[in-house]
Amino acid sequence: MGLLYITLCIVFLMMCKPPLYMGPENIKYFNDKTIDEELEWDKRVTWIVKFFASWPNDCQSFALIYADLSLKYNCTWLNFGKVDVRCYANVSTWYKVSTSPLTKQLPMLILFQGGKEVMWQPQTDKKGRAVSWTFSEENVIREFNLNELYQQAKKLSKAGDNIPKEQPVAPSPTSVSDGESKKEK
Ligand SMILES: *[C@@H]1O[C@H](CO)[C@@H](O)[C@H](O)[C@H]1NC(C)=O
Ligand SMILES: *[C@@H]1O[C@H](CO)[C@@H](O)[C@H](O)[C@H]1NC(C)=O
Repeated sequence: MGLLYITLCIVFLMMCKPPLYMGPENIKYFNDKTIDEELEWDKRVTWIVKFFASWPNDCQSFALIYADLSLKYNCTWLNFGKVDVRCYANVSTWYKVSTSPLTKQLPMLILFQGGKEVMWQPQTDKKGRAVSWTFSEENVIREFNLNELYQQAKKLSKAGDNIPKEQPVAPSPTSVSDGESKKEK
């Protein structure tokens, strides 16, 4: 009885929470197929990818912070992506991000360099439980070395390197991006 009630509540919460954030952001919305193509496309591009779902409270509060970071730091060689784990369970499982409604792993932030995962938060302890981590703007900037990554990316741009012209032609479901609000840092 109790368990059924809890399950119903969780299902209700999962279905009824409003969209996390609808404002400007420079974030690419990945699905099961596009993430591989994008990571393989040009391995010099550093990717920060957020795995999220609509129900954890931390995802709600982090949506705005992540959008803000993407506006400040996205550039040719440093890109931001996100994956909705509820829609794209395969890719989430692939990167060992739990899709369970009770998971403490969301949001999960993974840094990819050279097409490989090099760093992520939250980390897991020996028993496989997510170690709690505060997803504040300062923490992300410090832990993922965003300022340094951004400087490196700018150097690549100055060196005149260009991304190969043709971008992978995969549909991105609902990438909300507002070019005008993009600021250079
Ligand atoms: C990130 O910045 C690059 C270079 O300015 C731009 O081409 C790209 O569209 C941006 N990405 C997103 C998802 O807005
Ligand atoms: C699952 O995701 C991985 C990583 O993106 C991908 O390589 C694999 O082809 C996917 N499998 C299916 C059945 O889509």
